[in-house]
Amino acid sequence: MLAFVLAFILITVLVGLVIYARWHYGTLEKLGIPMVGKPFLIFGNTIDAYSKAGGALDIERFNKFGPIYGVYEGRHPQIHICDAELIRLVTTKDSEYFNDKRRLDFRDPLLNEMPDFQAYEKWKVVRNFLTPAFSSAKIKLMMGSMVVTLQRFCDHLKSEVVSSPGQKMEKFNLHGEYFSMITDLISRCCFSIEIENPSDPQNLFVNIVRGLLSPDNVGYPMLEVLTYSFPILQKIAPGMMNAKLSNDFGEIFSEMMAARKKSGENKRDIIDLCLEQMDKLDTPEYKRLNITKRTIICQALVFFFAGQDQMSSIASCMINNMLKNPEVEKKVYQELDQFLKKHNGKIDYENISELQYLFACITETVRLVPFFSRTERVCTKDWENKEFDLKIKEGMTMIIPIWAANRNPKYFPNPEKFDPERFMPKNKDKLHPYALTSFGHGPRNCIGQRFSNETMVLLSAFVLKQFKFHLRSDSEPAYVPAGPFFSPHTPFYFDVTLR
Ligand code: HEM
Repeated sequence: MLAFVLAFILITVLVGLVIYARWHYGTLEKLGIPMVGKPFLIFGNTIDAYSKAGGALDIERFNKFGPIYGVYEGRHPQIHICDAELIRLVTTKDSEYFNDKRRLDFRDPLLNEMPDFQAYEKWKVVRNFLTPAFSSAKIKLMMGSMVVTLQRFCDHLKSEVVSSPGQKMEKFNLHGEYFSMITDLISRCCFSIEIENPSDPQNLFVNIVRGLLSPDNVGYPMLEVLTYSFPILQKIAPGMMNAKLSNDFGEIFSEMMAARKKSGENKRDIIDLCLEQMDKLDTPEYKRLNITKRTIICQALVFFFAGQDQMSSIASCMINNMLKNPEVEKKVYQELDQFLKKHNGKIDYENISELQYLFACITETVRLVPFFSRTERVCTKDWENKEFDLKIKEGMTMIIPIWAANRNPKYFPNPEKFDPERFMPKNKDKLHPYALTSFGHGPRNCIGQRFSNETMVLLSAFVLKQFKFHLRSDSEPAYVPAGPFFSPHTPFYFDVTLR
């Protein structure tokens, strides 16, 4: 009898769990949205979320199902959108209906404070305190330190090339070197600290950020997929990222803030910005929104975490794209040489906007291979639209699959082709302003877009001024599965000579 009762309870619990996981199945079909397939058992359509690179999976789906399609991520209905006009409505024009993102639980109290994933009211305050860090005046101020970092990087590379056999340095990991150099650059520009040797394997900041972003640290994928069906598991499943590393960052940054406070200096950098915020922790507003010391430290981490791998990956992939298209390479060097002649060899913040073709090459790489695979908006008020025949219910998630949306042939003919001309000023009017989605759009877009673009153009100009890169059989990055948000890649290499 006991066995029967136990079996009955077990079956009831299991059936209850299955009903819970499948509760929303059917809602997208009722809206008439093309589905990527039937939801599988309790996993929805995301059983392959960790077996394919996020960007590649989305491109496959877009090619098969068109610009609007439905996906159940576990139990959550999601509408994926690759139409620029619809992206404009959701992110910008009707953003009051879509002003949230999901609360992701990284099982890491520091990473849980990332601005992207805060509820609207808290996000607004955090965004407001981050915004001044990206003003034109601040970026201009940072560029002075950047030039110093870039010169040091190029001098070091030059000495390595010169001392290589036949003055040709083989198997150079440009992405890895850019990554370390950008750590140095951000440390100088945003935190006013100098890293003795950014390539030093013991370098704490480099190791922390590299460790947090490394696919090796993205663990327990199957458990993560289960959290999509049973969000409660987020409370007990081990974290996807290495919490020790973010904790180390928190400790170092706390010490840096304490030292700055003690010194009484004001360097108008991110440490000072964070100190100003620390003074507000006891205000009723910060208390109500649960803005704590952790929230503030996390915003400092964002400077490394949000942009570092993206910038180093995109700037190094740009070189790969350029080399595979010799006519593009020729034009890049021609433009750069004319520019250098005009400015007596000097590259700085004031004049880099003249390097329009180089900027177009960076943007075309940002289009094809951004590090982020997806961004999203959660519907906060029922929304209806006749043009797209859509009725979106509060709580549904609109996903922008960045890699796929950036390949919509309606806006980018021959989408796989690396064609920087698309982004030249003369073609600007032909481009839908919401077709390129790599930095997101609207009030919750990427706050670091200008900073990243200017940094990537500046560092490319510095490097191309002195060096020539050569393709090898291992110059092609391979994109690896790492969950729905990131598309990291394997290391890739070039040979380097002096120009
Ligand atoms: C090539 C480089 C970069 C790319 C492709 C990129 C891309 C993105 C994307 C797609 C989003 C989400 C936007 C949306 O949902 O509409 C985002 C948000 C964000 N990015 Fe970037 N990013 C880059 C560099 C940076 C840098 C260098 C920083 C800071 C130093 C930064 C800071 C942020 C922050 C703070 C957010 C959250 C904004 C908010 O929620 O208000 N990003 N980024």
